[in-house]
Amino acid sequence: MTVQIIPKHPIPSGFSDALVKPADYALLYDESIRDPDSFWGREGKRLDWIHPYSKVKDTDFTMGQVSIKWFEDGMLNASVNCIDRHLATRADQTAIIFEPDDPKATARHITYAKLSEKVNRFANVLLSQGVMRGDRVIIYLPMIPEAAYAILACARIGAVHSVVFAGFSPDALASRINDCGAKLVVTADTAPRGGRRTNLKSNADAALLHCSDRVRCLVVKHTGDQTTWIDGRDVDVLKMMEEVGPDCPPRPMNAEDPLFILYTSGSTGRPKGVVHTTGGYLVYAAMTHEYVFDYKDGDIFWCTADVGWVTGHSYIIYGPLANGATTVMFEGVPTYPDPGRFWDVCDKHKVTQFYTAPTAIRALMGQGSEWVDKHDLSSLRVLGTVGEPINPEAWVWYDHHVGRGRCPIVDTWWQTETGGHMITSLPGAIETKPGSATLPFFGVKPKVLDPTSGQIIHGNGVEGVLAIADSWPGQMRTVWGDHERFMETYFQQYPGYYFTGDGCRRDEDGYYWITGRVDDVINVSGHRMGTAEVENALVAHEKVAEAAVVGYPHSLKGQGIYAYVTLINGADPSDDLKRELETWVRTEIGPIAKPDLIQWAPGLPKTRSGKIMRRILRKIAEDDFGALGDTSTLADPGVIDELIQNRANRG
Ligand code: WTA
Repeated sequence: MTVQIIPKHPIPSGFSDALVKPADYALLYDESIRDPDSFWGREGKRLDWIHPYSKVKDTDFTMGQVSIKWFEDGMLNASVNCIDRHLATRADQTAIIFEPDDPKATARHITYAKLSEKVNRFANVLLSQGVMRGDRVIIYLPMIPEAAYAILACARIGAVHSVVFAGFSPDALASRINDCGAKLVVTADTAPRGGRRTNLKSNADAALLHCSDRVRCLVVKHTGDQTTWIDGRDVDVLKMMEEVGPDCPPRPMNAEDPLFILYTSGSTGRPKGVVHTTGGYLVYAAMTHEYVFDYKDGDIFWCTADVGWVTGHSYIIYGPLANGATTVMFEGVPTYPDPGRFWDVCDKHKVTQFYTAPTAIRALMGQGSEWVDKHDLSSLRVLGTVGEPINPEAWVWYDHHVGRGRCPIVDTWWQTETGGHMITSLPGAIETKPGSATLPFFGVKPKVLDPTSGQIIHGNGVEGVLAIADSWPGQMRTVWGDHERFMETYFQQYPGYYFTGDGCRRDEDGYYWITGRVDDVINVSGHRMGTAEVENALVAHEKVAEAAVVGYPHSLKGQGIYAYVTLINGADPSDDLKRELETWVRTEIGPIAKPDLIQWAPGLPKTRSGKIMRRILRKIAEDDFGALGDTSTLADPGVIDELIQNRANRG
């Protein structure tokens, strides 16, 4: 077999003076692996500590006793690190640029002084509602500055925030409120996006019907639209912020106190509450933000993610603000009012680093290059991508039309669980290859494992599953309320390693190529969706007897959702019912979970013990059923022909 070696893409010639020089990467990486205590002991000092740490790393990946602690005897407050410590030098510098959905509305520049006042007031409102250290607060807000205030206010008083993406349904919201036992939900009246408005408050109302009636609801009157109001439960938070005092002393927190919970989809069951703690997470978010984006004083940083995902946590809020940056918060969508919006905003605010998802790049590429070519993008220095592997065609377009060949592209591989970037190039230090996340970040020890034996595959030009051999400060610590599940999910299959759930290849140059999930998680437009979650939603419909959901290649979304549905006896397999099921899933989980293709399946391929053979369903959904592999263990091989005949994704 001949192996095609993809050549490296040189660092753009005009890009110089990067924080990490090409020769430094190898040296620093080497030190970070050889002596993590000294490396991270030094990096930890990038934060302000109320009580300095004397211990750096205390971690154990042994199944059954997994324990991860960093800087464990240190004390700090995350909001102080993101706000107070900048006030002496940056009070009048813009911390947040808020770009509203409506391009004609004026952007808001929130200075560090203003941010400080808002966060202190918000924190006082939380205290007035009885929120105490360690209590959980659900934040169900659109991309508005109040989301940042709410997050940092929780951090200030030591409450644990859990942001729920505003695109999730009332049911999804309710299950998260209940899982973490939240005392309070912060939401807004309505949320404009792409010129349309979602009534978040009515979603929250619907969710709260399924929760304890002690849960309070703080409402940000953002648009002023009329909503229902329940006296005694609902609180006008903006009004209250005017009434409470402007100072709220920060609560000293232990480095290992939880900072936030973020729910994410796994291969089985309900979404897991990923727990991140205060010290390690913040060190890691700040450090990766600085090095990976070559962040320097005065830069205008724009991450287009939603604050409801980990990318928004680490690279809109915590990383940039810990570094005293100016961070852009964009309320809208890339195609409203036209497909030039991103570039218009880059030009308008003189953005220096731009970080987005491959799915957005592909969508904009499809609209024609004229939308980007006409804008002045000379302020841009570094481009980034995240969320899914980027196809080389989109990479080249991004490089050429957005970066104009001047800007290094950082393809950052990481996960909700990892807190920050894990495998990524560094601008000016690591040459890129379109489609490869390149090399590990400092302190990260990636290993390619044989999926069956679990043995390490050494050398280059190899492929397997991706595991990480040692801890890094941004690592999740546990699953909220279920440490057993944490260990089983990440440490059981390959003992001694953190298992990522991704497949990967290490090429002849030692570069990593993520090949996608190897578990039952699909990546739709860079968002993680568990197939089991969509199946559970489908079978909850009265006409559905059984459902199996798999991913298939989708030209814009990366992966699409393909659902095989078996109806109950007597139900009519009509197109109307398909529409009904699509709407059903949207309301059960949210629009991102809507199946792209539904196929009626009179039967599903199962083993004699009744296990659905997803491998076969995946092949059929991929329109690649030539080699279905071993089907001899099937209970009824006849169902396969039927499924192939009526497949919904003909090439
Ligand atoms: C995928 C998002 C290839 C991967 C930060 C991972 C990527 C999952 C990349 C995590 C990338 C993320 N190249 N694949 N640069 N970035 N992924 O938790 O499958 O929403 O396991 O975190 O996205 O998704 P999550």
